Amino acid sequence: MEKFSIGMIGLGTMGSNLMLNMADHNHSVIGYDKDPLKVKTLKAIPNYTNIDATVDISEFVSKIQKPAKIILLVPSGPIVDFVIKDLVPFLQKGDIIIDGGNSFYKDTDRRFNELKEIGIHFMGMGVSGGEEGARTGPSIMPSGDPEAYDQVKAILNDVAAKYKDLPCSRYMGNASAGHYVKMVHNGIEYGMMQLIAETYDLLKNGLGLGNDEISDIFTKWNKGKLSGFLIESAAYVLLQMDQTNGGHLIDFIKDVARSKGTGKWTSQDAMDLQVPVPTIDMAVIARDLSAYSNSRDKISSYNKKASIKDHDLEIKDVESALLSAFALTYIQGLHLIRVASRAYNYNTEMKDVVNNWREGCIIRSGLLENFEQVYMTDGFDGMILSDEEIYKLVAKHMPMLKKVVLFALQNDFGSSAFASSATYFNMMSTKLSPMNLIQGLRDLFGAHTFERTDQEGTFHHIWK
Ligand code: 6PG
Repeated sequence: MEKFSIGMIGLGTMGSNLMLNMADHNHSVIGYDKDPLKVKTLKAIPNYTNIDATVDISEFVSKIQKPAKIILLVPSGPIVDFVIKDLVPFLQKGDIIIDGGNSFYKDTDRRFNELKEIGIHFMGMGVSGGEEGARTGPSIMPSGDPEAYDQVKAILNDVAAKYKDLPCSRYMGNASAGHYVKMVHNGIEYGMMQLIAETYDLLKNGLGLGNDEISDIFTKWNKGKLSGFLIESAAYVLLQMDQTNGGHLIDFIKDVARSKGTGKWTSQDAMDLQVPVPTIDMAVIARDLSAYSNSRDKISSYNKKASIKDHDLEIKDVESALLSAFALTYIQGLHLIRVASRAYNYNTEMKDVVNNWREGCIIRSGLLENFEQVYMTDGFDGMILSDEEIYKLVAKHMPMLKKVVLFALQNDFGSSAFASSATYFNMMSTKLSPMNLIQGLRDLFGAHTFERTDQEGTFHHIWK
């Protein structure tokens, strides 16, 4: 019997959809899951002769061509380790395990090293686009040993989303680079979603618009520079009607945002690497803060909100503000990836990161064109806001971002991601910051020394 080109562990919707996507591209694929129902469901899909599934892990591995290529699409965390433990006794040197979940990059590095010791390749691979993306073409962020990547490259290219006919599945670099890039992708996703939520708040409670009107505005913006998956999706979510009560579903969804951790990891790692990502930080904080719903209820009862003050805020101002804040969120994330690539020896090509995000992923948007141009055309290799074109792109919209932030503060809105984006831009484009006083104070109370503007070296002053 002819063997299967690749194996898939985890036959949830993501795993099964990716299998069908592979099969559509003429790759034969066998699935494995401990759950017999999932195996049965997959086997029952009609008209697919090049897929199969089993609950028997030994049969599963024996039916895959050597060297075996096996993708894991299981929940991140300890389950990945359990699956690897079950799988390894059936593998041979040179086989390849590819983790397609949202695993923490340090776990990926540990797994990479442990498996390398026994001659097995381990690849960390970010996959974005949700269940629909897996079926029709996700954005794929693979990493690991180049020789392992070379063996799966063709399959990944076939199933990935395409941008200008090129697959959004470029190699992200060594070891855990793919999971790192996916983690930051999700951090950016948190920032952009928070900005969209704040926009909805300002349009609804500031300008008094209804859900249908806001949905129409998002739909209109989706045809312009703000076009992208998240804006399009927000327009869609706002229109949905509630089956139980009638009226818009959005008005019945509790205002408490949950999370699975990737945004928090982005902020934590950015702090470790000393890369400022304040819009992403605020997005994580805003979700955490939303959980205090009882306290918010109580505290808000002390606070008699005045009606909206006279203003000249227009919808087009909010559109501009959102554009600049989206750009600043990408800028922060790209800065983090660039620094991480050096710190962790990933060798990540920034142009490939942006290319992978052009289609298939959650944060795809027309704005990325500007970043792609800088990385592709100019071969730019600096902090992305220091590129003059990128600076100009943001600066052009700054007056409207400031206007939105002022409106928000004056009228008691918690538009924290807009405010953080604006202050990030101000601080990053200020030649002289007040940090000289911090250094003076540190030296005064702790003899921590300081550098001078007029001489090289470090200095300590006898202050008293
Ligand atoms: C994607 C998404 C996906 C998932 C997030 C949700 O790129 O397809 O990012 O990975 O929806 O993990 O994360 P939170 O539950 O933390 O919002």
